[in-house]
Amino acid sequence: MKIAVLRDRRAHEKRVAASAETVKKFIGLGAEVVVETGAGEGSRLSDKVFADAGATIAPDAAAAVSGADVILSVQRPDATALAGVKPGAVAIGLYAPYGERDELQALAKTGAALMAMEFVPRISRAQAMDALSSQANLAGYKAVIDAAAEFGRAMPMMMTAAGTVAPARVLVFGAGVAGLQAIATARRLGAIVSATDVRPAAKEQVESLGATFVAVIDDEFKQAETAAGYAKPMSAEYQAKQAALIAETIKKQDIAICTALIPGRKAPVLITEEMVMSMKPGSIIVDLAVEQGGNCPLSKPGEVVEVNGVTLMGHLNVPSRLAQDSSNLYAKNLLNLVTLLIDKSSKQLNVPWDDEIVKGALVARDGAIVHPQLQG
Ligand code: NAI
Repeated sequence: MKIAVLRDRRAHEKRVAASAETVKKFIGLGAEVVVETGAGEGSRLSDKVFADAGATIAPDAAAAVSGADVILSVQRPDATALAGVKPGAVAIGLYAPYGERDELQALAKTGAALMAMEFVPRISRAQAMDALSSQANLAGYKAVIDAAAEFGRAMPMMMTAAGTVAPARVLVFGAGVAGLQAIATARRLGAIVSATDVRPAAKEQVESLGATFVAVIDDEFKQAETAAGYAKPMSAEYQAKQAALIAETIKKQDIAICTALIPGRKAPVLITEEMVMSMKPGSIIVDLAVEQGGNCPLSKPGEVVEVNGVTLMGHLNVPSRLAQDSSNLYAKNLLNLVTLLIDKSSKQLNVPWDDEIVKGALVARDGAIVHPQLQG
């Protein structure tokens, strides 16, 4: 059985889908591992590191894919990279399944079974395969570090002989995986932290991290969580009430960290232009939702801009800004999923198609898109 690791080619992508540790583990499972040359460069993993771990280095994607049973990447590869794929092979990555349908369709047409890491169900058995969480956790941390580095003041309160430095006030939008890590990071740096979310379960989690929960708690709020634990889109009436509360709160903040998302939809607008204008000069907004349209309409994808003295940071692919850690964790997520696809005794690929995790992650098979959420 052959496992191929592709070099990711998209802009802002420094991560790689394998580590020395996962290469060794795959070999231990009886696989042969082929890594495309340069795949680990952005994560400071040279070809030599992979070769020392036991992988063969392929000169290009075609050579890596040729004869491979499993093809791993970070983002969705171009269909041309999979042109020569072996029938029955499985390709796995963060395929942004709700993104460009044409590209996904073209990839499906190569005949490889496609599994999107974003669709791995969030059940306890799949926790070690949850790439959304492993990456969002690092993004939440980095958002606060980026804000602190840009902020012209200190984060903690400092009492010095020359006077007192006031602590920074940080408001986090969305208390999912990224938001909770942002809260924890801002707290560790000594900031006074508050957070908002529309899911009732978030209140206790926010408070357990020592932050204040800011939300309109009405009947709609009490039912604002799907069975899968995600946020539901809120009514216009609720959004107006929430906006009024945020408008009052945000004026007093120094840093806003935006992480609010609804899967498969445009990110909710939570910081309006008017709210930005009400913030103090020198304030910072980090918009982690910028790739889904942003929680603030003034943030610009891939740019750091200043509006009325407020700096808006719209870095793309924030997990990739911590490529060494994000690659390591993502590679482990893949290892855990691929282990499920390997028959231990024959040491061959033997996909358990009826397994809940496989069914959840499977986007395309035999040339067609099969995932229920991508029909129609
Ligand atoms: P996400 O990335 O989809 O969204 C981030 C946060 O934004 C969510 O907490 C969401 O409720 C919030 N949000 C959406 N609209 C909002 C609005 N209008 N105002 C304020 N906040 C808004 O979520 P993520 O981080 O992927 O986590 C979703 C849920 O899944 C969480 O409850 C998380 O704890 C849970 N989860 C469960 C896992 C498991 O059981 N294995 C693993 C990871 C997450």
